[in-house]
Amino acid sequence: MTTAQTLAADGAAEAARAAAPCERGATVWLTGLPSAGKTTLAFALAERLRAEGHKVEVLDGDEIREFLSKGLGFSQEDRHTNVTRIGFVAEKLASNGVKVLAPVIAPYAASRTAVRDRHAEAGTEFLEIHVATPVEVCSERDVKGLYAKQAAGEIAGLTGVDDPYEAPENPELRIETQNRSVADSAAELHAFLTTRGLA
Ligand SMILES: Nc1ncnc2c1ncn2[C@@H]1O[C@H](COP(=O)(O)OP(=O)(O)OP(=O)(O)O)[C@@H](O)[C@H]1O
Ligand SMILES: [Mg+2]
Repeated sequence: MTTAQTLAADGAAEAARAAAPCERGATVWLTGLPSAGKTTLAFALAERLRAEGHKVEVLDGDEIREFLSKGLGFSQEDRHTNVTRIGFVAEKLASNGVKVLAPVIAPYAASRTAVRDRHAEAGTEFLEIHVATPVEVCSERDVKGLYAKQAAGEIAGLTGVDDPYEAPENPELRIETQNRSVADSAAELHAFLTTRGLA
């Protein structure tokens, strides 16, 4: 970035922090294994935030793959492209006062860092939430039947089983969902946004 761009980004970040919670945009990225609870928590949080007067958009990984990322597969390169595309759109929305919730696996640390860096360059807030449900619990939930299919040899390349999942080392928040209700986990997430002046 040039000095002028850095100053502009710093200025944007400062102005954003001074705004009321409802006016402040941010990207809240929920990363975690399949069936960890990302989508469930994103929609629970979205409902509460909307009721409180926030502008909210949910960019769900599955939905994005049907349109914006249609045609991409699950190779490392395609997964990276998918995540950076979502990050691009998220930043645009967040910079216009939207709370963007992105329940997207995003298995590679480098992809998440690329999204984080793009937000930092623009002075837009980015929060990485690790929905840290252990693989044993996820495979028991198996919402889409993927763990069973992988175990039966019907599919390969399942994140966290026979495809990489690089857990975040320094997420803004790590959430446990095992032995906790959806309402409890969503409340924890909401409370965290409150501490950041975003809710
Ligand atoms: N505390 C909790 N928080 C979130 N989900 C929970 C919790 N406890 C149980 N669950 C259940 O776990 C499942 C999580 O499924 P969900 O579709 O949200 O996972 P996901 O992380 O979006 O997976 P995928 O990457 O495959 O889209 C749901 O059936 C949900 O009801
Ligand atoms: Mg999901």
